[in-house]
Amino acid sequence: MAKLGVNVDHVATVRQARGGVEPDPVTAAAICEMAGAESIVAHLREDRRHVQDRDLRLLAESVKTRLDMEMAATDEMIGIACELRPAICTIVPEKRAELTTEGGLDVAGQQADLTPRIARLKDAGIIVSMFVEPSGEQIKACRDAGADFVEIHTGNYANLHGAEQDKELERIREAALLAAALGMGVNAGHGLDYHNIQPLTRIPEITEFNIGHSIMARAMFHGLDRAVRDMRALIPH
Ligand code: PXP
Repeated sequence: MAKLGVNVDHVATVRQARGGVEPDPVTAAAICEMAGAESIVAHLREDRRHVQDRDLRLLAESVKTRLDMEMAATDEMIGIACELRPAICTIVPEKRAELTTEGGLDVAGQQADLTPRIARLKDAGIIVSMFVEPSGEQIKACRDAGADFVEIHTGNYANLHGAEQDKELERIREAALLAAALGMGVNAGHGLDYHNIQPLTRIPEITEFNIGHSIMARAMFHGLDRAVRDMRALIPH
């Protein structure tokens, strides 16, 4: 039995395309919770390309399930997290030019730098999760750095097909088993959709899936017919 966390960044992306107030990711979060989402994920990026500080502040006040703040482990973001105290912080790598988070964080390569940063968040009462590739080396480094959870990057799995995808599924299974054996919780996310989620749900160690793009894409098509009819009704003919 795994939980579903819904990422509302994509709603903010649409709002930022016009620079106005709608659609509001805070309203989206409330609707997601009413529909059964057990966690709301929002990524405050350094360049503020989608989620804004105001969004995160309001989400911290209004989310009734659990707010998972995705962030780079910078001093600025740690300061914001310690002030807003989301239930969870998921530490991700961040590159300015990327379209979305590309690959997991190299925890093994930055362990000395990350360890005190994780400790600052934990001291503020925040659960800390690390977004990493399904690699034994990275999973062990997360444990050594003091992380409570790992979030296994499923982006490669989502992009592969057939035997290659099966191989990646096995890597994810082994990484999830190792993380659980080391005493960490296991989340998974990135690129998950209505066609590729089910094999992952058969890995019992994964207790939460964090999904954004595919849910928002489906929401658009589920809602398009109604939205056009509502506007058609307002224009006399
Ligand atoms: N988990 C993490 C750590 C992410 O960075 C993202 C993308 O923002 C997601 C989950 C959700 O990915 P997607 O939008 O592809 O479902």
